[in-house]
Amino acid sequence: MLSILRICLLLAVLAVVTLGAEDFYKLLGLKKDASERDIKKAYRTLSKKYHPDKNPGDSTAHDKFVAVAEAYDILIDPETRRIYDQYGHDGIAQHKQGGGRPAQHHDPFDLFSRFFGGSGHFHGSGERRGPNMEVRVAVPLRDFYNGRKTEFTVEKQAVCSACEGSGSEDGVVETCNVCGGRGARIVRQQLAPGLFQQVQTMCDKCGGKGKTIKHVCPVCKGERVVREPETHELEIEPGMPRGVRITYENEADESPDWVAGDLIVHLMESDPKLGEQEHERTDGTFFRRRGKDLFWREVLSLREAWMGDWERNVTHLDGHIVRLGRKRGEVVQPGTVEVIENEGMPIWRQQLPDEVSEAYGNLHVEYVVVLPDQMDKAMEKDFWSVWEKWRGKKGVKLDAALGRPEGPIKMPEKGHDEL
Ligand SMILES: *[C@@H]1O[C@H](CO)[C@@H](O)[C@H](O)[C@H]1NC(C)=O
Ligand SMILES: [Zn+2]
Ligand SMILES: [Zn+2]
Repeated sequence: MLSILRICLLLAVLAVVTLGAEDFYKLLGLKKDASERDIKKAYRTLSKKYHPDKNPGDSTAHDKFVAVAEAYDILIDPETRRIYDQYGHDGIAQHKQGGGRPAQHHDPFDLFSRFFGGSGHFHGSGERRGPNMEVRVAVPLRDFYNGRKTEFTVEKQAVCSACEGSGSEDGVVETCNVCGGRGARIVRQQLAPGLFQQVQTMCDKCGGKGKTIKHVCPVCKGERVVREPETHELEIEPGMPRGVRITYENEADESPDWVAGDLIVHLMESDPKLGEQEHERTDGTFFRRRGKDLFWREVLSLREAWMGDWERNVTHLDGHIVRLGRKRGEVVQPGTVEVIENEGMPIWRQQLPDEVSEAYGNLHVEYVVVLPDQMDKAMEKDFWSVWEKWRGKKGVKLDAALGRPEGPIKMPEKGHDEL
């Protein structure tokens, strides 16, 4: 194990020399005015991508992994970053030769472990792995329809960056001189003359850790980890199913004792409510979704349902208008469901056949008819007389139309069916 590490280190040094010419900002995909947060984020992403454990036998990836660590070390330190910005790679080389503080020059695997815990390797290479972390993020239906790039923040346990996970302010961690690093010691107790018992107890000097720290890190109080919020980007793709799981590799709780597990986001749909901004105030806010289809209830008055001649403009989730309506004389029965093709949800690209670039589900519009329960006295009279006029002449007897018998049916005499 040690010799492998040494070879890696050697390769690392060689790679830094050969790749030294590549621009650090370019390497990290950053602009010159990148913030500390941008630099850290770029490092997190790229170091995972190029980690040798993920790219076995790929020397280009290995070199990149090393170069990304080097670029990070130089840019994260304000002093070396200033030198690099002014004098480039030569400036950094001179700075090192001139005995300048060599930034925080890390072994690249060491640096990786500062970010993701463990000893800088991935699970599978004999590394312990921390638990996964699951969070729910709720977004409105509008985001599932239109797609959206957004961010969310989770609080998690992170390796303390002040002491780089050592727990010590000056980085000095000593082996406990009481237990010799075992964390436990043997106590001999005399039970009776000549009769001894050996008891193993936890070392009280080091609290069972096997290590002692003189100057405890003031940030993490020697715990080696801190709790801090971390913000992640979240890309919601149009048509993603509710409850879809999105995995952020190695972004769960960190610890120097393990490599971080995955952060898993469950994408949920938030309860509908009208937003404040114009584009958030659409009818579509109140569409209900089932799979790729959308559902909407439209209310018609008695006159509209019966006589026709009406129009509605329903604003969809992206603001476009779906026109509903009937011509004069077209009746809509209560409870009718009209299916409007391709006005449902977009179908998620992962669920589309390769040759299709986009497709949509349907919009189901259910019509609800409300009858007037209050009427102007004169109007009521008018309607009544119209009904009376036609009831006698053309009135339909629904009982007869449905084939119902007239009057009560005579039941058979008791005992008739006896066998
Ligand atoms: C619906 O929108 C169309 C244009 O998109 C417009 O001509 C029409 O008057 C609108 N109807 C209603 C009822 O607002
Ligand atoms: Zn600390
Ligand atoms: Zn001890």
